[in-house]
Amino acid sequence: MSTCILTEQQYKEMVSKTHQLLSALYNYHSPIYHHSLQVGKVTQSFLRYLNWSSQDIIIGTTAALLHDIGKMRVEKELWSKEQGITILEYIQMEVHASHSQNILTEAAVFPAIIIESVAQHHERENGAGYPNKINKMTPLASIIAIVNDYTALQEIRPGHPVRSSFQALTHMLEQENHYDRVLFRAWQNYLVLQGITSQPIETKPITSLTA
Ligand SMILES: [Fe+2]
Repeated sequence: MSTCILTEQQYKEMVSKTHQLLSALYNYHSPIYHHSLQVGKVTQSFLRYLNWSSQDIIIGTTAALLHDIGKMRVEKELWSKEQGITILEYIQMEVHASHSQNILTEAAVFPAIIIESVAQHHERENGAGYPNKINKMTPLASIIAIVNDYTALQEIRPGHPVRSSFQALTHMLEQENHYDRVLFRAWQNYLVLQGITSQPIETKPITSLTA
């Protein structure tokens, strides 16, 4: 990642604003808050695996924690609506990535790489994403897109089945042209270290302790 250098003061302001925004997100809709925390946690672990520098891990984790902060500017009921979502409501929901970009820009304490990556977290490498259908994302946006999808696929969400970690990865493999090729390969290797592969591990009953 292109490194930006944060001063001690910038770092303090960024951490303070991140806490403030996450607290507001919790009050707005706690499932989105918990989702954000999970994406932040997994992103941080994946960035460590990728050997990013300490500062880039802080920047990447902050972006992951705040990727959905723009959902606060969307009518809350839409996130729990089971069915009958209109095209207009769908567009309102999709705009949350741009709202995230605006909220972080207005805060005036976040580096440009965080703002840009948050704005792109629903874009896809094949141009099939939203809101701008771009096909060139920042590496950090590509990473958040992968972790976000993997996390969301395993959550209870209106209109979507809850998947196991194996099923989530299998689903992602079916649409792997959505993801950066190199980073998605690294993601699969990372998951192997967590015991998750795209093939279920064949288990046999233990019939002998010496076999
Ligand atoms: Fe999102």
